[in-house]
Amino acid sequence: MDFSIKTFDAKSTVNATKTGCLVVGVFENKKLSASATALNSKGEVAAALKSGDISGKAGSSLLLRSLDGAAAERVLLVGLGADEKNVTDKAYLQAVNAAAKMLTGLGASDAVIDLPMPQGRDLSWTIRSNVLAFHESVFRCDAMKSKKDPATNGVKKIAFVAPAKDAATAKLALAQSTALANGMNLTKELGNLPPNICTPSYLAETAKKIAAEFKMGVEILDRKQLQALKMNSFLSVTNGSDEPPKFIVLKHMGGKAKDAPTVLVGKGITFDSGGISLKPGANMDEMKYDMGGAASVLGTMRAIGEMKLKLNVVAAIPTCENMPSGRATRPGDIVTSMSGQTIEILNTDAEGRLILCDALTYVERFNPAAVVDVATLTGACVTSLGHHNSGLFTRHDDAHDKLANELLDAGKQTGDTAWRMPIEEAYNEQLKSNFADMANIGGPAGGSITAACFLERYTKKYTWAHLDIAGTAWKSGSAKGSTGRPVPLLTTFLMNRAG
Ligand code: BES
Ligand code: MN
Ligand code: ZN
Repeated sequence: MDFSIKTFDAKSTVNATKTGCLVVGVFENKKLSASATALNSKGEVAAALKSGDISGKAGSSLLLRSLDGAAAERVLLVGLGADEKNVTDKAYLQAVNAAAKMLTGLGASDAVIDLPMPQGRDLSWTIRSNVLAFHESVFRCDAMKSKKDPATNGVKKIAFVAPAKDAATAKLALAQSTALANGMNLTKELGNLPPNICTPSYLAETAKKIAAEFKMGVEILDRKQLQALKMNSFLSVTNGSDEPPKFIVLKHMGGKAKDAPTVLVGKGITFDSGGISLKPGANMDEMKYDMGGAASVLGTMRAIGEMKLKLNVVAAIPTCENMPSGRATRPGDIVTSMSGQTIEILNTDAEGRLILCDALTYVERFNPAAVVDVATLTGACVTSLGHHNSGLFTRHDDAHDKLANELLDAGKQTGDTAWRMPIEEAYNEQLKSNFADMANIGGPAGGSITAACFLERYTKKYTWAHLDIAGTAWKSGSAKGSTGRPVPLLTTFLMNRAG
């Protein structure tokens, strides 16, 4: 899909626009936007509203052909809600999704989008929303299908109308949004691939490809190197699997050489059977998505690489399978983590924290400006926040409040939202073990919080935040598939940091 920016002037007007489909907004109050007024020379747009053929409600749409006075072959009216002055984010997104869906079924090969902006939003927001919606509408997961399911979308070229004075801003926003969409597509593809294909080695190869394409540094540590580093907690998770574990380090040094990097750590369990604490069979296939943290970190690296973001960013990804076998870790086993702290593994299904804690110790060497780990960590997070918000956890002091707000704001900017949860001493006590420094589970109450408390013990040397994306990384049911979240949140967080 090819996007561009179009500006109107005295010669190139909305009526003179030659395109397969021109998309304009209409409202429930039936008043016409400037563009709709121009196209209404014979009263056809007003008549469509008056007759009730289109209500103007957010997401309603009506296709008109060969409109008098318009050079466009088709005009697609889309509803944006009550009136032009009060377009909400939600109404705008509904309208764009309706347009994307409609254009999918059209014979047109190109389209021009000329919609008013929502209240309080800018051109960058608007362009990003369009680019992401159109990419989502044509996304197919057919990598493993013998017959590819081609996007029926005839529309290959989409132009956004922007005021002439903002053309440069619009072009930059378009390039950044395209990089973001490409990053999200990579995250979705990795997530949707089956666990027999998307193995730790496959993720490592993907990181190498990103490094080669976007000139990043890459290092893949293998089992021997992990043993030398004393990552016994990470290694305990991989014991039952025949797939070799990998530890991926990917470095984008877009900032000044001496600037402290922002570090992203992603949970990369390519299949979580639970291990000896085996999961129930129903929906176990969805545990192929347990590398969603790793996939979103790789997608984010791809996005900032394509953007040539002026910031130092290091990705660290521990990746392995969690499988039962005669060599698998037993409930009751005690391991010594890279940090020296000992862990009693009471449940082998609480494995994410076991691989992350060693990664969090490893990244100390980068003297990070901040560390954000991303993980499909707990079912409890899905229970508490559902599928709308990722869970955000940090300590509660000024530096961490600032980091938390940066992440929350990046989420609000992109609609990829997170909700802050507590980390407090009282929860920490649930991790007490009679035999080791801590247990790897804290009982059924507050499961996402005790998991975060566990990780917190390995992050004392830097400013740190944890995102639990168990509810947001993929969808179940008939729409089963990776969402690409939280790539928009993470990428925007890094863009804001780059300034
Ligand atoms: N990967 C799962 C978390 C998960 C489960 C995410 C279901 C999304 C949907 C994680 O490794 C896990 O199994 N967590 C356990 C922890 C428990 C044993 C303390 C859980 O959430 O049940
Ligand atoms: Mn598990
Ligand atoms: Zn898991």
